[in-house]
Parts: sequence; structure tokens; C-alpha cells
Amino acid sequence: MSRTTPPPRRRRGALFSAGVLAATALGAGGLTQGTAAAADFACEVGYSTNDWGSGFTANLTITNTGSTAASGWTLTYSYSGNQRLSQGWNGVWSQSGRTVTVEDTGWNGTIAPGASVSTGGNFTYSGTNAAPTAFSVNGVACGDDGGPGPGPGPDPDPPGDRVDNPYEGAGVYVNPDWSANAAAEPGGDAIADEPTAVWLDRRAAITGGSAGNSTGLREHLDNALIQAEEHENFVFQVVVYNLPGRDCAALASNGELAADEIDVYKEEFIDPIAEILGDPAYADLRIVTIIEIDSLPNLITNVSPRETATDQCDEMLANGNYVEGVSYALDALGAIPNVYNYIDAGHYGWIGWDDNFGASAELFHETATTGGASVDDVAGFIVNTANYGPSVEPHYSIDDNVGGRPVRESEWVDWNRYIDNQSFALAFRDELVSQGFNDEIGMLIDTSRNGWGGPDRPTGPGPTTDVNAYVEGSRVDGRIQTGNWCNQSGAGLGERPTASPVPDIDAYAWIKPPGESDGSSEEIPNDEGKGFDRMCDPTYEGNPRNNNNMSGALPDAPLSGHWFSAQFQELLANAYPPL
Ligand code: BGC
Repeated sequence: MSRTTPPPRRRRGALFSAGVLAATALGAGGLTQGTAAAADFACEVGYSTNDWGSGFTANLTITNTGSTAASGWTLTYSYSGNQRLSQGWNGVWSQSGRTVTVEDTGWNGTIAPGASVSTGGNFTYSGTNAAPTAFSVNGVACGDDGGPGPGPGPDPDPPGDRVDNPYEGAGVYVNPDWSANAAAEPGGDAIADEPTAVWLDRRAAITGGSAGNSTGLREHLDNALIQAEEHENFVFQVVVYNLPGRDCAALASNGELAADEIDVYKEEFIDPIAEILGDPAYADLRIVTIIEIDSLPNLITNVSPRETATDQCDEMLANGNYVEGVSYALDALGAIPNVYNYIDAGHYGWIGWDDNFGASAELFHETATTGGASVDDVAGFIVNTANYGPSVEPHYSIDDNVGGRPVRESEWVDWNRYIDNQSFALAFRDELVSQGFNDEIGMLIDTSRNGWGGPDRPTGPGPTTDVNAYVEGSRVDGRIQTGNWCNQSGAGLGERPTASPVPDIDAYAWIKPPGESDGSSEEIPNDEGKGFDRMCDPTYEGNPRNNNNMSGALPDAPLSGHWFSAQFQELLANAYPPL
């Protein structure tokens, strides 16, 4: 997603253009001809609808165009929108996600060569009601165009008009809620006009109107249309963050959904978001979605038998609901042509070690090719979301040696392959492409709080007396340990939001809104599902996930997501580049 000369983005639709064109030309009511040469059973499926705006009747006819009778049939096809089955007849109808399955009733199970059977169902929907473009019966593709590519038939995704890097040449939405909080702070005017992401961190955030979520998604998008008037292109950044059993290795951002509430996640969170983002009124916005922070990598790094395991992460690995939820979100949101999905990929101080790096990329690929999702639903990945690791360590390199010892041996680096997020992001991008992601994917870095300026920032390399003194004297990352993540003392604002800072990095973006807490420093009862994580307590001496170091957290912090004025002030004071 971030080459300097953008290649045209290859969409699945293009691979199957013959089939897509055929289906489009025929439209609702057209026949899709089966061409599977060697199959004994071959089929045509006719599809037509009677549509009244919020619902429709679908009439389907299966014709056996082969030479063998079908005794018993199962028809499957998928919708690309939020069409939901209410009832069916002349068949046993069911729906899972977007896939509809119809089985014969017994009495209409036989279809002789040349004969047809008809079946029908009623559906509700909102938004657009595109006809399905591929059907199969008993696993035989009725719409196989015989063209290139592994799958049968045309792909139901709408043809994409995505650009290579959505941030390129685009304005970015300024969240008025965050902006007002920032502007109300002494000195806050300096950054109150910077774009920050909108967080959908619970179902209530979609509609808004409740405490902490005053502005709903539609209202934000309507505001975005107004802000967009002054720009040729415009990006709206939204974080999708509400998985069942959320944040399994920490407590501060535990969410509202229990570990097994995957259906609630799909139906009451992702589906309504997809419906709003898919509204044609917003089709000209470039909608950047940040998909599920801190989820998938936990299934690699914080599960048994590792010392860092938590019961909750073991449970989320076992029940599969992180993978299922993320793939569902990618599929549902990726079906909207102006949505750019970026998956959260942790940060250098987490995924940078050899044990975690390849395994995480593999899990991302598995997830993005599970259910209805495909790699074409993924525009890229984001690193350092809501974290504190610098984009670039300017004064030392992973390849440096001191007294014959590589910096990887220093206590700080501790055998990691990376010392900053940009080198990590670029290397991880290569790994993701080698696992099967498109070569056009681009990376984002959340730079909202990774600045580390102020008087303690080193101005050059450390002494070369020994490798530890060298790294300690060089590093601008001011944390006690790279596993520390909560309200870090000494942190500053990082690079201001910028498009294409270097090739393959789509943008530096402010995803975590500066001034919003990472978690309370002591227990605070609440109805947001949030727990008390001792990593936010400045007196805490740590756990295996930060190698048993002090937490480095600021005192007196409110619940995660709540305004934390003292932190905002410190971020201003320690901004780097300085304000
Ligand atoms: C919180 C969310 C909040 C987000 C942005 C997360 O740590 O759990 O509730 O929306 O930060 O501040």
C-alpha cells in the first residue's frame, strides 16, 4: 500500500472478470452457466428477487445440466451485504454469516438431467441488496468460469476502487470530542487540530449518546463529510475494538463481551458497523479501520506453555473466537469498497523476537484466509497502537558491536532483532508478504505517544565502554523495559501525523488519542468491563511479561479511555519532535 509509484491494486474481482461480467450482464433473474468439464453433475442456478427496500423474496431455480440425476441436493451461495434470512420454502434454508445453505426437503431431492427444482426465501436487509454472483450445488460450482485462480466462480466482493495508500494526498478527520478535550488544556491548542482515531470500543459507541460515547459513528461520519469539503481526498480513522474476551493478557482494557459471545460480536457490533460504513453517503471517504488491537499476537506469546501465559489467553486460543471475530470483521468491512482494513500487529518490543515474529505473521495469514475473509480484505497492518516504542532509534543500530559484543546481547535489547518500530514494521511487512499477503500492503505506526523528548533524551551514542553502557546511553526509548505499556512516565508526543514518511509506511498516525488513559493506577469500580491491571500501578514490580521490572506508570490515572490531564501535559512537555 505504499509504493512510490502505486501499482493498480489487484482485486479478486479482476481475477474472475469473465464471471463477474457475465453475472452483472445477466443481473437478477439471469442464469449462470456451469462449465465444470469433468463433473457428472452440472448445474445452472437462476436467481431473481422481488425487493421492497427493506426486504425481498429470493426465487431460485436449480437446473441439472449434467448427464447424471442428482439424488439429494445442497445449494450454497453468499451475499455481500447484511441480508438476513427470515424464512424459506421448498427447501431447508439456513444462514451462517453471509453464506446461505438450502437443502432439499426430501420430496424434491431428485433432479433428473435437464430437470429443474425451485425454492424460495424471504430476507430482510438494509443498505444495498446486491445479487449473489456464485452458486454451487453439492460442492459443484454452477458459476465456474474456468478462469484463473483457485476458487470456483466469480467473487462476490464489489470491484474495488481502493488506492494504494489512502493517506496519500488526503486530509484526515479531526475528532471534535478529542479536539475539545485537548483545546481545553493549557497549551493544548498546539495540537488540538491534529487528526486522531475514533474508537468503537463497545456496542454503545456505535450509536453514541451515552456517557463517554457522546458522538455516534454516523454523526462522526457526517462531520467527516463536512471536514472533507476542504480536501480532495479524505481519510476517516476508526478503531474496531470489542472482541469477546478482549485484552486477554491485561486487565485494564477488558471489554464488555465475555469470552464466548462471538455471535453478539458479529451481530450487534460488526454487522451494524458494516451497515453504517457501507452507506453510499460515505462512499467518497477513505475509511481506515484499525482491527482489534492486542488480540492475535496474544495467542502466540501469552499462551501455555510459555511463562507469560494467562488463563484468558489460553481460553481465547482454545475457543477460536479471536480468529473467528477478526476474520469476520475483515470480511464484513473488507466488502465495502472504500474501507481499508489495517490489522494490529503489536510492536517491536513484543513481536520482534524470533519466537514471535514468523508465528505471528502465520497466524495473521491464517486468520485473513478463514471464513469469508481473504488477503484482499487487508490493506495493511499497524504497529505500536497505543504503545510507546520510538519509530526510530537514531543513535544506535541493531548491527552495532561494542567490545566484540553485539547490541543484541545487551540487557535492554535482550536478543530482540529490532530496536525500533520502523525497522520492525518494514521487516514484518516482508514477512507478511512472504506468508501470502499482497505485495501492496502498507504499514502504519501509531506515533501519538512515542516521542521521548525532554531533557533526558540522549543527543548521541552512549559510551563504548561496554555493550550495556552503550545501549543505555544511546536509547531514546525511555521506558524501564519494552514490555511496559501503561501511562508511561517521561513519554512525549511522537511524530505528528504524516502520510508516506518512508516507502511502505503508509502513515504515521495518531490512533491512541493523547491524553486518554491506558488504565487506572488503582482499582476503580466501573460498568465498562474494565479491570485493574497492576501494570498501571507505579508501585508494581512487574511480571514475566515485562521481565519483572517496575511498571513505569504515572500515578493517579483514571480508567482506560478516560481523560488524564497530567499525562496530556507530560506528553506536550516531552514531545519529540518538540512542538
Ligand atoms: C480503552 C478504550 C478507549 C481507548 C482510547 C483503550 O485503552 O480501553 O476504552 O476507547 O483506549 O483511549
